[in-house]
Amino acid sequence: MKHEWSSKFTFILAAVGSAVGLGNIWKFPYITGEYGGGVFILAYLFCIALIGLPIMLAEVALGRRGKQSPVNTMTQLSLEAGGHPAWRLLGWSGMVAGCLILSYYSVIAGEVLAYSFRASSGAFEHQTVDGIKGILNSLVSDPEKLLAWHTIFMALTVLAVAKGVRGGIEKTVTFLMPALFILLIFLVFYAMTTDGFGQAVDFMFTPDADKFFYARSELGQYLLDANGEKIFTWKPMMVAMGHAFFTLSLGMGAIMMYGSYLNRHVSIGQMVLIIISLDTLVALLAGLAIFPLVFANDLNPAAGPGLIFETLPLAFGNMLGGTLVGTLFFVLLFFAALSSAISLIEPTIAWLIESKGIRRIKASVMTGIVVWFIGLGTIFSMTGTTLGDIFQPLVGNISLNSGLFKYNFFQLIDLLTASIMLPLGGLFIAIFAGWVMQQDSTEREFSFKNRFVYPSWQFMIRYVSPFLVAIVFLNIIGIF
Ligand code: TRP
Repeated sequence: MKHEWSSKFTFILAAVGSAVGLGNIWKFPYITGEYGGGVFILAYLFCIALIGLPIMLAEVALGRRGKQSPVNTMTQLSLEAGGHPAWRLLGWSGMVAGCLILSYYSVIAGEVLAYSFRASSGAFEHQTVDGIKGILNSLVSDPEKLLAWHTIFMALTVLAVAKGVRGGIEKTVTFLMPALFILLIFLVFYAMTTDGFGQAVDFMFTPDADKFFYARSELGQYLLDANGEKIFTWKPMMVAMGHAFFTLSLGMGAIMMYGSYLNRHVSIGQMVLIIISLDTLVALLAGLAIFPLVFANDLNPAAGPGLIFETLPLAFGNMLGGTLVGTLFFVLLFFAALSSAISLIEPTIAWLIESKGIRRIKASVMTGIVVWFIGLGTIFSMTGTTLGDIFQPLVGNISLNSGLFKYNFFQLIDLLTASIMLPLGGLFIAIFAGWVMQQDSTEREFSFKNRFVYPSWQFMIRYVSPFLVAIVFLNIIGIF
């Protein structure tokens, strides 16, 4: 059975549903905090415009032309263009990346679900900073609790994809995404009333290059080499670029998959602009909602993955109607995560159905179980229990150019996917769309109205995007 979105609006909703998720509201604020604000956000915006935009256009176009799961789309398109059959590996690495990302995504989404219940029970009311930290700690140091929530989230994801993309996603997204957006704007207004707002705006939009380019400890002090000099590092650049891919759901075929369900007559350019603008807007709003609370309460912006679970509950606990607003917020964030999770797993499910003839329900359950297992690694690296210590030596220390970083399982998977597999996937998508495919096919797929748009895209996808991705990579592995 061939699926198609009911209208171009459902495509926008589904693609925005995929793009907007934990990446915008959980990850973006904490990595912005870790890498010093201003310049990090600039680098991120720069990557969105010069790498994300051309590659998203390419992914949608490839998907719509191939009309299948990414593996089979790549096989068919490379056949059509006389390319090497190995291009299908792009689809394969996408499926692996999607499952790996989902394995930790689900653990965090589980925490969000847990927080919906905590919020609704009034647990945050009149809490102090220490009280809030205690609540977070009692969750993340307890493997059984994390496991239970992770299991629930994976089960719901499986249920949603098993129902099929249209049945599952369209309904989830139509009402809940707009609601999340409105609630986020409300939170920004609340944040404006706190006395950390000025400092937050300063932190987010005043560039401080040192904080970005020189390695710092978890507490924010600069690391020094043997000569007492600050240590230059490309890692923040790598994270900013990786996050551009992550937040737009690019580089692993999710958007290609959704493009394959898109009707031939819809203008791709317009769709992609809307998706990217909304995604970026949500991330910036999340920053403006969260950082004022960080500064007003003297918290550490570099607190890491726990950042939103420390800041927002404080606000909910101290505002009028906070129990209701807090509950709503975490519930909506949970649905935003669910609509992203669906897109992480759908390429694998669609491939199992197409190529292995497995029924959708069975394919969903099988994939879900595999992902659930990988997720255990993240749980143990969060709780820091003995099992986490078993993972640690396996992972060990990884040396990146100018800096030795210690990784746990969660951080390793995050590094491997967001910073390596997605940009590499994006690089190959760019090369394929720009150099391997016939100009004719891409031009017809886009049908841009303005005649300057296609040559601009072609220039970007051939030269600019691959060049930028390659530069960051070469620096990271220490070639320069
Ligand atoms: N973009 C989503 C977020 O920001 C996560 C996500 C969904 C994703 N699908 C993806 C990331 C595909 C990379 C690739 O939360």
